[in-house]
Amino acid sequence: MDASYSITDIASQISKCKLCELHKDRTLTVPGDGDPNSKIMIIGEAPGQNEDQKGIPFVGRAGHILDSLLESINIDRTKIFITNMVKCRPPKNRDPNVKEIIQCTDFLDHQISIINPLVIITLGRLSLKKFLPNTSIKIARGSIYKWKQYNIFPIYHPAAALYNPKLLPKMKSDFKKISSLIEGMETDFKSTQMK
Ligand code: URA
Repeated sequence: MDASYSITDIASQISKCKLCELHKDRTLTVPGDGDPNSKIMIIGEAPGQNEDQKGIPFVGRAGHILDSLLESINIDRTKIFITNMVKCRPPKNRDPNVKEIIQCTDFLDHQISIINPLVIITLGRLSLKKFLPNTSIKIARGSIYKWKQYNIFPIYHPAAALYNPKLLPKMKSDFKKISSLIEGMETDFKSTQMK
């Protein structure tokens, strides 16, 4: 299956979605952005004001922090796929509620199965909860976990560093782990394919 076609197809379904109340206040839907053939997928929480205006995830202040963390390990954001738990902006940037997250889950699950990433990086509490409902970000961050066939790597949400700059060094060291983890996984993946 052509991954980019299917991701485009999901984006078009999202653009017409009226399953939850969030559609009423949105300017644009924010389906996700980047390379659908990537081995890395990043999942944040919900679009904010800048994302709602541009239709692209992580283009505001939190996005700048995310970009600099990615740059610090030489990863260009166009080479990975970035999306959110919900695809429309909650009013006044509140957290999306359980109902909104559930209504949007099918879109996210489809995106995950099309992209089939080696590693899913969750940003913050809400996206962690989807994969590891019984743990906290403080405990889970910076380690790898299994969810179905996927490797989950939770880290703090970049916006947390805006309020608490002391988190930034922790986030930088978590990002450093990601690049070596991915190298190791790619080697394992290639050797299983050669068998
Ligand atoms: N925060 C998120 O979780 N997602 C965005 O796209 C922007 C800010």
